[in-house]
Amino acid sequence: MAALKRESFGGRVAVILAMAGSAIGLGNIWRFPYMVGEHGGAAFIVVYVLCTLIVSLPVFLSEVVIGRRSRSNASQAFSRLSSGSRFWKAAGVLSIAIPLIIASYYSVIGGWSLDFFFKSCTMTFVKTAPTQVSSIFDSIVSSGFENVSMHLLFLFLCAVIVAGGVRSGIEKFSKVTLPLLFILIVVIAIYSISLPGASKGVSYLFKPDFSQLTPRSFAFALGQSFYSLSLGMGAIITYGSYVKKDENLLAASSGTAISDLLFAILAGFAIMPAVFAAGIEPGAGPGLIFKSVPYIFSTMSSSLPVLSAVISALFFFAIVIAAMTSCISLLEVGAAFLVEKFSLKRPLAVAILYLLCGGAGVLCALKSSVFDGFDYLCSNILLLLLAFLVVIFVGWVMKKEDVEDEVTNSRTIRQADKLFPVIYFLIKWIAPAAVLLIFISNFIL
Ligand code: PHE
Repeated sequence: MAALKRESFGGRVAVILAMAGSAIGLGNIWRFPYMVGEHGGAAFIVVYVLCTLIVSLPVFLSEVVIGRRSRSNASQAFSRLSSGSRFWKAAGVLSIAIPLIIASYYSVIGGWSLDFFFKSCTMTFVKTAPTQVSSIFDSIVSSGFENVSMHLLFLFLCAVIVAGGVRSGIEKFSKVTLPLLFILIVVIAIYSISLPGASKGVSYLFKPDFSQLTPRSFAFALGQSFYSLSLGMGAIITYGSYVKKDENLLAASSGTAISDLLFAILAGFAIMPAVFAAGIEPGAGPGLIFKSVPYIFSTMSSSLPVLSAVISALFFFAIVIAAMTSCISLLEVGAAFLVEKFSLKRPLAVAILYLLCGGAGVLCALKSSVFDGFDYLCSNILLLLLAFLVVIFVGWVMKKEDVEDEVTNSRTIRQADKLFPVIYFLIKWIAPAAVLLIFISNFIL
């Protein structure tokens, strides 16, 4: 391969912001709060944190190790580190295919968010009666033109950032938008908690109820934490390859996991109190943010129309940003691959990805069975498969000294050095077993 000059992230903060940008997305907003509520509130959060510490964080670290050690795109990373083995080449192909499939349907959801942001700005929810407001989402989904054009617009915005490069596109964008995202979600949470009747939502989320914890809760917690941390999709391998050699990988990984969890909890505070204040049954998935939340804005609009419009615009703007930073990380996997493997110019590589994901996304936008099929295939099967391969690779194929070298920066980071035996044990034994267990439980529970 031609010796290309690789870009890198500026420093620790930039690394965490970019990785957190990938991690924080729709998973935090529409799945986490609902799962917490349904699986015992604070009790589930304890399980979630344990699963993250014991399994997801080691998987995350493994992806960053593969990325930084190989200093190459996700596809070639495996073959470089295994001196060209066929099997690992195939794993590399998987790590390019998965993010592209996800980007196709993720950007359809991004398109809905963008559409709802525009609709908030034109005060559509304020003008629509509460009983009618959920039909707005249905009409977008059933209207081919609106659905497709918003998807293409959303994907275009993400593509422009990726075409800008690692430093001046992705890093710059996440440095501005991630802090803004946290500010927005805090403002919305404060507002939501101040609504009359909001306390029911807070207790739905946080009242610990250990009796609701079942083996399924553990499988859900792990699956959610994988998805939320963008694991098994090549994204963290790719971002890991832009981390400088003197960066502390353990600190960057934990910083990302903490930001992701914090945001998920804040999203819970932003959404659930308002859902309960409006007297709606909580749910998960698109219905939560595209039906329940607009309902809230519509009911409050009779007394405070302008405030309602402003808060709804801020809310959907936050969702657009969260979805964009995630989608950007998905596109970057393919961009890095095309640029390095075929020596393409970045803008050309991104244009190709735009056509591919845009086209597949059009199918998802027009046919819900394709959308659901892609989601099922990626979230329940491919993601786990790749995560499994990642930990097997780091725990069993790479040399232990090389892994140690990466995690401890050649034994120069004291804490990482002390923790390494535990981390390595988790990567080698616990993480593969846990991934296998969730995989099996997806089919039998
Ligand atoms: N982590 C993102 C979320 O929570 C989803 C995602 C997965 C994004 C993989 C990028 C890569 O929504």
